[in-house]
Amino acid sequence: MTAAIQLENVSKIFYSGRERVEAVKELTCAIEAGEVVLFSGPSGSGKSTLLNMVGCLTRPTVGRVFLRGREVSRLADHFRSDVRRNEMGFIFQQFNLLPGYSALDNVAMPLVPLGLRASERREQAGILLERLGMSHRASFAANELSGGEQQRVAIARALVGDPWLILADEPSSNVDMKTAHRLLSIFSEFKKEGKTLVIASHDQMLLESDLIDRELVLPDGEWVRRGRSQAPPTAV
Ligand SMILES: Nc1ncnc2c1ncn2[C@@H]1O[C@H](COP(=O)(O)OP(=O)(O)O)[C@@H](O)[C@H]1O
Ligand SMILES: [Mg+2]
Repeated sequence: MTAAIQLENVSKIFYSGRERVEAVKELTCAIEAGEVVLFSGPSGSGKSTLLNMVGCLTRPTVGRVFLRGREVSRLADHFRSDVRRNEMGFIFQQFNLLPGYSALDNVAMPLVPLGLRASERREQAGILLERLGMSHRASFAANELSGGEQQRVAIARALVGDPWLILADEPSSNVDMKTAHRLLSIFSEFKKEGKTLVIASHDQMLLESDLIDRELVLPDGEWVRRGRSQAPPTAV
């Protein structure tokens, strides 16, 4: 069977002045459809870099990235944009909402290149906002929302095209505890829907939740199994 995500001997090297940084080093791994995977590790261990390579935001310096069996690492930029638009939703740490636009317009934005009519875009965006309990803020400008509200709008925007793959970079780091718990339940819903979810985070709360099926510990790239169903049997 073809893995949902396949990384083959992937390295990413950055040059900053004279400094050479190998942010991700010779990593090979596969993630199956419907899995919830955590990229963990200390700050600077390459979590975001790896997530960005899966998300077609950066290319590996060496190695190959496959999504559903298709090599995306060597596609031309405009095809990579298509992949991003059609197949995945990305939840960024800084939310990246457009400040002058309403919550509804922000959520509807990814639908613009898909050729839907404005009324259809608004309808779909409205459905997502409702699902995230944000209908009452639909007309508020993004900069008028609290951090937790902005995050829910950002999640709605990531989901509006019904992607099979959801990527989230430190989704719990800029929000309060209540929002973080809400985030866990939203992610659990994605999981029930069979979506593939990859989260980059060093948050202990995520680590301890039974949401995560497997954890890839960076920078070494060792797998750890997580989740209640995977727990070793307790001695009687
Ligand atoms: N655009 C960049 N230019 C130069 N160095 C970078 C760049 N992006 C990341 N790095 C470096 O790569 C390493 C891994 O960064 P990152 O993937 O952001 O780690 P994490 O998300 O685990 O904190 C760090 O040492 C960081 O400074
Ligand atoms: Mg990071």
